[in-house]
Amino acid sequence: MRISIDPSLCQGHGRCYDLAPDLFGEDGEGYATLLVPGGEVPAGEEDDARLAADNCPEAAVLVYEE
Ligand code: F3S
Repeated sequence: MRISIDPSLCQGHGRCYDLAPDLFGEDGEGYATLLVPGGEVPAGEEDDARLAADNCPEAAVLVYEE
């Protein structure tokens, strides 16, 4: 599974890094950053990735099921 953030959609709501703090961080202005290299979701963190995507009000968290 891979994740990415669409920076053109992210408005800094922060739900992604609250719900999945191992996968997402925040930049100095509260916008989401990816903490995992290449967006590769480590084994066992898939549910957190989906939770973050489902809870982003801007649909800025993209999940690629692979
Ligand atoms: Fe941005 Fe959505 Fe997270 S708006 S900070 S990607 S919850």
